[in-house]
Amino acid sequence: MKPIRILILSTLLAVSVSCTTGRKPSTVGTTPEVERRVEQLLSRMTLSEKIGQMNQVSAGGEVANYADALRKGQIGSILNEVDPVKVNEYQRIAVEESRLGIPLLVARDVIHGFHTVFPIPLGLASTFDPALVEEGARVAAVEATGQGVRWTFSPMLDIARDPRWGRIAEGSGEDTYLDTRMAEAMVRGYQGDLSDPSSMAACIKHFAGYGAAEGGRDYNSTFLTERQLRNVYLPPFEAAVKAGALTLMTSFNDNDGVPSTGNIFLVKDVLRGEWGFDGLVVTDWNSMGEMISHGFGTDRKEVARKSLEASVDMDMMTYGYLSHLEELVHSGAVKESDIDAAVRNILRVKVLLGLFENPYVDVEAGKAVQYAPEHLAAAQKTAEESAILLKNDGVLPLDPGSAGSILVTGPLADAPHEQLGTWVFDGDPSHTVTPLKALQERFPGKVTYVPGLRTSRSRRDRFDDVVAAARRADVVLAFLGEESILSGEAHSLADLNLKGSQSELLAALQATGKPVVAVVMAGRPLTIERDLPNCRALLYAFHPGTMGGPALVNLLFGDENPSGKTPVTFLRTVGQAPLYYNHNMTGRPYNGETLLDAIPEEAGQTSLGNTSYYLDYGAYPLFPFGYGLSYTTFAYSDVALDKDVYGQDDRIKVSLTLSNTGSREGTEVVQVYVRDLVGSVTRPVKELKAFERVSLKAGESRALEMEIPVSDLAFYGLDGVKKVEPGAFRLWVAGDSASGDPVSFRVD
Ligand code: NOJ
Repeated sequence: MKPIRILILSTLLAVSVSCTTGRKPSTVGTTPEVERRVEQLLSRMTLSEKIGQMNQVSAGGEVANYADALRKGQIGSILNEVDPVKVNEYQRIAVEESRLGIPLLVARDVIHGFHTVFPIPLGLASTFDPALVEEGARVAAVEATGQGVRWTFSPMLDIARDPRWGRIAEGSGEDTYLDTRMAEAMVRGYQGDLSDPSSMAACIKHFAGYGAAEGGRDYNSTFLTERQLRNVYLPPFEAAVKAGALTLMTSFNDNDGVPSTGNIFLVKDVLRGEWGFDGLVVTDWNSMGEMISHGFGTDRKEVARKSLEASVDMDMMTYGYLSHLEELVHSGAVKESDIDAAVRNILRVKVLLGLFENPYVDVEAGKAVQYAPEHLAAAQKTAEESAILLKNDGVLPLDPGSAGSILVTGPLADAPHEQLGTWVFDGDPSHTVTPLKALQERFPGKVTYVPGLRTSRSRRDRFDDVVAAARRADVVLAFLGEESILSGEAHSLADLNLKGSQSELLAALQATGKPVVAVVMAGRPLTIERDLPNCRALLYAFHPGTMGGPALVNLLFGDENPSGKTPVTFLRTVGQAPLYYNHNMTGRPYNGETLLDAIPEEAGQTSLGNTSYYLDYGAYPLFPFGYGLSYTTFAYSDVALDKDVYGQDDRIKVSLTLSNTGSREGTEVVQVYVRDLVGSVTRPVKELKAFERVSLKAGESRALEMEIPVSDLAFYGLDGVKKVEPGAFRLWVAGDSASGDPVSFRVD
């Protein structure tokens, strides 16, 4: 009997929630009790108090500057205050001195860790380890909430296929499925158990298409079709909404002429209507006001109206709602019921986070959790899993027993702030362990440090000092790349080669004949083709964070075995951008045709093959998506499917044997890709549909089974309806997106 009663109760609960709210079942997990509290509060609010809740301001300076506005109920949220004493003071004024005592939502960009800095999100994605990424997000939440931050503007879910775009650092790269898995993990990690004071509301951003900025220039327009949006850019957002993300941020860009903050189709129709999102939608910083610069509105009044029409709840730093909504209601241009809907979404999040019960932070307890040893350990493990071995002629791992004398050089060898990456407002560089520091600790007396270049952009003609030191050393470790400041928001680049004289430094070192190992730390995949011949091994770390030093040293000396994989295609030259593995099938696919050098002078215009490639660089990248070496080798065999033909509701069971064919224990990221051979619209050549990290001892083989629901093959085709189109498919299981032999199946 019992299970049936439970079922009936939960059904009644769901029905009563949707009856109370008049919406689809809640995505944020509200309950009738939460809704009752929200309604009760709302019924007591004046129009001006409602509009106040919709206003978010950046704190700065003295609390007293905001006291008056807080007392009047004109601020619903503040961002950028992380002093817990001040946070408590803000809350005290809001809770004790405003008429209704509504607590503030305190927000911050906690993007890849708070004090303990984890690898940048692109590096988190390189781990292909959602469970570990979830753990990292939990660590960030524990530290940030310890100082009163209950809302982070993370995760960023923008698919980025152009490494010129500086914000590629902040997301999971080019692939929809990988991004989706990371999105769910981060939402779970930040939010944890909502009733716990260490839970922090996630904010999925930037909605939507921002990563497709034309030319990779930040804030630039995008021109994504609805089909591209739905098939490639929106799924991570939808998955994060399903995972319970409490909030979402609109993006700066205009897509096909419509800025996101006023985009009724995206926010109102898709997010609210189709997905039933009943969380809080916030603008990006002044993105409401920037609709005036876009020429999408004449003044703040007009763009405030357009934002509300799109069902945007909270205004970050335009003051458009605060200044104009009241007047817009009185003139009849805006309905108060739309304001009520926005305020409900805001209050719902505050109630769900337990802010009314726990508005204050325990300052001493909060201090104690910052940089906790287990947080540092998690950050180090993540940095270890995140680094990608791109080249190794066998020189790695170095033998710690006979390491001899080590020359450490390069601008990133001892740059505590620079290895932290973008968005580290709170990461204190004095806690950073650089590779130099880690090496000196591990090999006292054996390390010589000659930086060679002060920064990545420094220029030199000769490197006599470094070369002389290299000649005296047994091994040379060159730490190159780009500093934090060269990636992230508003930091796009048109040239992706190593900057300054870094390539020349590497070449000079290589010319000594000593074993040279390059470690590149960067916020994006740089074009390192010309550097590969000048080192015997290359380890690539997207800015690895506080514990990057020991993580890299453990990898270089074989305590850990590299297992990171590229979450984004590495280009040979910037002119190939955008080049990504899951592009559509073209009518004239590349088939290995003549490159420029091989073209006879007298060749006629039409004799070049006419397929899709560059005459000077061909069609392939330097390293494909999903690529990364290990100190051991893996072999795939017995790849088979449980059926030849699947029904729409089936699950595809992929079986295989993975063997560690080398002499060390190691971890492989097993990846499953699928191609839909014929569709009502052209389909990608391959799409990642599953992955799993598998650790095997030297010589060990393991039979594995991976599952893909047939429903995961659905896409928006010609009729604009998401479905699996029956027909023939191919499936690959491999260690990267460019390997493996396909097996075939059909879906009926
Ligand atoms: C602008 C950025 O685009 C966004 O990602 C960030 O969260 C906000 N500023 C708040 O700092």
